Amino acid sequence: MPEDLPQGLARGLTHYGDAGFALFLRRSFARSMGYSTGLLGQPTIGIASAASDLNNCHRHFPELIDSVKRGVLAAGGLPLAFPTISLGEVFLHPTSLMYRNLMAMDVEEMCRAQPLDAVVLVGGCDKTLPAQLMGAASARVPAIALVAGPMLTSRHEGERLGACTDCRRFWAKFRSSEVDRATIDRVETRLATTAGTCAVMGTASTMACVAEALGMLLPGTAAIPAVHADRLRAGEATGRAAVALAHSRLTMERIVTPAAVENALRVLLAIGGSTNAIIHLTAIAGRLGIPVSLTRLNELSDTTPVLVDLKPTGVHYMEDFFAAGGMSAVLHELKALLDLDCLTVTGERLSERLANPPEWVDRTIVRTLVAPFHPVGGLVALFGSLAPNGAILKRSAADPQLFERTGRAVVFASPDDLAARIDDPALEVTPEDFLVLQNAGPKSGYGMPESGYLPLPAKLARAGVKDMVRISDARMSGTAYGTIVLHVSPEAAVGGPLALVRLSVRERRIDLDVYAAELALRKTRWHPPALPSRGYQRLYAERVLLAEEGCDFDFLRQSQ
Ligand code: FES
Repeated sequence: MPEDLPQGLARGLTHYGDAGFALFLRRSFARSMGYSTGLLGQPTIGIASAASDLNNCHRHFPELIDSVKRGVLAAGGLPLAFPTISLGEVFLHPTSLMYRNLMAMDVEEMCRAQPLDAVVLVGGCDKTLPAQLMGAASARVPAIALVAGPMLTSRHEGERLGACTDCRRFWAKFRSSEVDRATIDRVETRLATTAGTCAVMGTASTMACVAEALGMLLPGTAAIPAVHADRLRAGEATGRAAVALAHSRLTMERIVTPAAVENALRVLLAIGGSTNAIIHLTAIAGRLGIPVSLTRLNELSDTTPVLVDLKPTGVHYMEDFFAAGGMSAVLHELKALLDLDCLTVTGERLSERLANPPEWVDRTIVRTLVAPFHPVGGLVALFGSLAPNGAILKRSAADPQLFERTGRAVVFASPDDLAARIDDPALEVTPEDFLVLQNAGPKSGYGMPESGYLPLPAKLARAGVKDMVRISDARMSGTAYGTIVLHVSPEAAVGGPLALVRLSVRERRIDLDVYAAELALRKTRWHPPALPSRGYQRLYAERVLLAEEGCDFDFLRQSQ
């Protein structure tokens, strides 16, 4: 550490007008926690914990954080765990994304305000890791992330189950009357049975892999299952690495560079990752002044094959990915496509990390570049008169037979309208129609929920329909699948053109097929939705950026 800057508990003293008194007071109060003089003089390592009784994915954090403390102590640091907002994906209304920025502000301010030489970010459930990385990037404090790790799978009548692709699969069967109430009740007890994040390549695991590709996790730690002893060893190693960071003062802006962001996009495509990751990566990069272009995403998508066979696009689960070689296997396979000069949080360059190939890779799960799982990347951006700023399609999880078609739009004006009418027996809808959901974008007041995975109308589901084209300005869960166009921008809530559509994946287009005069008439009749009246939700609606800018607040971007 540079000698001339205050370190450890002497950092950022409280303003009493007497720095000596402020330090004296701080050390006196720290002593009340029973620390020895020697320990109080060590580098201070914050451990930002997203533990919460309202976050099942993080229920093992007490033990995991103990392992980090062990590593910090062993390396000569003072571990100081502190709570931040936690975002349990399924426990938040109207949606967890709305609170990601609030958590990022919490992490940023607490990392900056407290006397910390380095921080370990312990998160994992979908929005927590993005929020932590956004906050740490802005705080400019040396930081390293440690993720929760995925759940293990369970069994139901001989069949393997894992949250949450199988949640959706079974619920679709229940909606179409393929399984009865007693069965769905039993399945409910078997989908999520251990600590950890969702068991498939959903948003949490995607972001863990993306963070490792960015260089913000220790090598090989993204996919270790939550309950595996290796997860605790990763915690200890992360604690040690944080002490090294406190000495090296290596901060995120030297790790998360434009080249590292491009590496992360390659990895996102190669793992068939979640559409949500584009929003989160854009927001993280945006904190460091790095733009993420959807046009560039398309170029990368055409030259990056999907390498892993994992749900929701394939058949395997995260524990299989870990056993198959995990991120080390993926990065080695992508080596020729990556910028190997990028620094990682250990101070090592990617070239050094990848100097030796993995000892063994299960090629049924992590495929090679020459014989990939899909020849092109899993995600693609569409542009056109419906989405001038872009929209996202997870083509690896979509049915190509539904591409290159013109169809009639069955329009729902909001998520509430969707819930009220989708199963109405009188709803005029056929399997050839496109289901369109409006006013579910970031500025809609709904906070861009994961309602882009519109349920198929019950009467069509019961008739055996498995997929339809669905288009919205919403998001969808990383565990979902189907022919679903998301993040349509500009969104309906700011007057974006979301109505009858014509879709072409081949030409990367998504177009309105409506006469100009009719569109002009509709424009005159359009009114923006009412804003929430007060508080954080009011701030969110007023200051959130659109999907292609990562849904961050305008005043938190690096350039602001
Ligand atoms: Fe936490 Fe899926 S609910 S990762």
